[in-house]
Formats: sequence, structure tokens, C-alpha cells
Amino acid sequence: MAEDHGLMSDHSQDDEEEQIELTLRPQRLRDYIGQAKIKHELSVYIQAAQAREEALDHVLLYGPPGLGKTTLAMVIAHEMGVNIKTTSGPAIEKPGDLVAMLNELKPGDVLFIDEIHRLPKVVEEMLYSAMEDYYIDIVVGEGPTAHPVHFPLPPFTLIGATTRAGMLSAPLRDRFGIVAHMSYYNQDELKRIIFRSAKIFNTQIEDEGAHELALRSRGTPRIANRLLKRVRDFAQVAGKPSIDSATVSKALDLLQVDRQGLDEIDRKMLLTMINYYHGGPVGLKTIAANIGEETNTIEEMYEPYLLQIGFISRTPRGRVVTPAAYRHLGISYPTEK
Ligand SMILES: Nc1ncnc2c1ncn2[C@@H]1O[C@H](COP(=O)(O)OP(=O)(O)OP(=O)(O)O)[C@@H](O)[C@H]1O
Ligand SMILES: [Mg+2]
Repeated sequence: MAEDHGLMSDHSQDDEEEQIELTLRPQRLRDYIGQAKIKHELSVYIQAAQAREEALDHVLLYGPPGLGKTTLAMVIAHEMGVNIKTTSGPAIEKPGDLVAMLNELKPGDVLFIDEIHRLPKVVEEMLYSAMEDYYIDIVVGEGPTAHPVHFPLPPFTLIGATTRAGMLSAPLRDRFGIVAHMSYYNQDELKRIIFRSAKIFNTQIEDEGAHELALRSRGTPRIANRLLKRVRDFAQVAGKPSIDSATVSKALDLLQVDRQGLDEIDRKMLLTMINYYHGGPVGLKTIAANIGEETNTIEEMYEPYLLQIGFISRTPRGRVVTPAAYRHLGISYPTEK
């Protein structure tokens, strides 16, 4: 990693953030709010694997950022009563890095690979035999002394997380016995997450306040937690003993997060499509160029939510803004389209 002295002074703050992040993460399946279907299935597979004294089958978690994939991976390891080693696709640069990680695993342990769609191809190919038959073949040495070494592994569970299941190659995807598609959280679930986090922060929040916050959290626990922290600051400075809905509204209006959870970039995206392209169809690249964001960022972070709430739709010719989005933005829907 490049040296960056400018960041050094932030370390203690980072540590503190990390600490809060750790306490915010539920440890057990029963404390993990929402994702009912996934939780139910996992609890069956975990119980069965434990009864057979086997490693849990490999798990692929996919869905938009901040929905709790990393948290769930930790919960799974905890429920299985095993250790978890965490890494990410881009961090494993060469086969040796993977071998080093696999070498540390004890029987039943979890290897968690975040952003698994970003694994280098050579590393991905090594994973095939590791996942299927718990071994890897590596070449040791160079030139005339190079020779293959067969390296057996303990039974382990690979948990992969990705925001882009479509970017996983078929051979890799097919090796996951358990595939879980994480979905956005509903208002009720978000409220429960907000109450839980408020308790951890030692903060009071009123029911109406939690409701208002849930509305604006984009169906995403990470955003709910982040906004809760900001709103807590506003309430504290205003001398309110408890966070009420007026404080939430005021704070989030200031932060430009609206009652559908849209932020500045969402609005910029929709307004660009409306003002310059009659609401579409517009290609993703054109949108990205217009608002100065990467196409990847739009595809992973913005578009899934806008699709989910029905503000844009996808057509073969590009993205289209829906009447619901026009209504939300207070713009009349063009009659001839
Ligand atoms: N089901 C849940 N119940 C309570 N809190 C949750 C839940 N899911 C996520 N959180 C909280 O939301 C935050 C984000 O979760 P996490 O980091 O696991 O998301 P992620 O899906 O791994 O995101 P990314 O794709 O960006 O890595 C954490 O602070 C976590 O505590
Ligand atoms: Mg994560």
C-alpha cells in the first residue's frame, strides 16, 4: 500500500469507528434482523452440517453494498463454532497469497473472500479443486527445478461475497452449494435495526423518529446506521433527550437525503435523464459520463435501489425514468412519449 502520511492522524478515529462497527454487528443468526428466507435456510444447513460433523457447504452471498454480507459471514462462522479468515478478491494477487491463507485453516474453518468477483483468474482456477476436493496443485521452483506439489487441505467453508453475481464465472458460481441473494430491508426491519443500534449507542429514539429514519435509509442497514449517527449529533446539539421525527427530518433535509432515501447523486441521475434525454431510454455509459460517476458505481450502488423502488426501468434500449419518479420529483410526466 502507498504511504500516505496525511491519513495517519485519522488512525485513532478509524479504530474507534471499527470498534463501533464490531459492536453493531450481530453475532448470532437470531440477532440478525431480516433476510428471513436466507436465515431459515442457513439455520437448517448449519444444524445438518454440525450433526454430521462436517464443514458447511460453500456459501455465495450476493447483493448491493451495505446489506450485511460481511456480517452474515461472521454470523455463520460463529454459529458453526469455527474461525473465520477474512480477505478480498483484489487482496489475493497471486496463487501464493491464496496458499498462505488456505494453509492457516483448521478443519471446518471459514475463509471469507469479499468482492470475490475481483479475484485474479489464476487464483480463481486454484480455488476450483480447493472447493471441490480440498486440495491444490502448485508448482514449486522455477525453470528445470520446477515441480508440481500436491497440497491437501482440511475441509473448509468458502464464503464469497459479491455485489455482482453476474460477474462470477460459471465454474466458480457452480461450486457454491448455497447461494443467497440478499434483498433490501423493509421499513419494519430497518426500524428494528435502528432501535438495536440506538441502544448500542446509548441513544433514545422515538418510534416516529425511527420510522422517519427507516424511510430514508434506502433499505440498507449500513445507511440506517450512518444516518442514525448523524441524526444523533443533531439531537444532541439541539439538546433533545430523544431523537424525534422532526429532528430526523431536519437533519436529513440538511444532508439532502429525501423521504425515499434518494441522495444528491440519485436525483442528479434522474434529473439528467429527464432534462436531457426526455426520461430515456438512455444508455448507462451516457448517464455515467453526464453525472461524472463510474458506470460500475451506478450499476452497483445507485441503479439497484432505483430499480427496486420502481423509479427507473430497464429496457433493451437503455434505462427509462418511470412516472413514479417524475411524481416524486414534482415534475409532470410528458404526455407524448
Ligand atoms: N441484518 C442485520 N441486522 C443488524 N445490523 C445489520 C444487519 N445487516 C447489516 N447490519 C449492519 O449494517 C452494517 C453493514 O453491514 P455489512 O458490512 O455486513 O454489509 P456488506 O453487505 O458486507 O457491505 P459491503 O458490500 O459494502 O461489504 C454493519 O454495521 C452491520 O452491523
Ligand atoms: Mg462487506
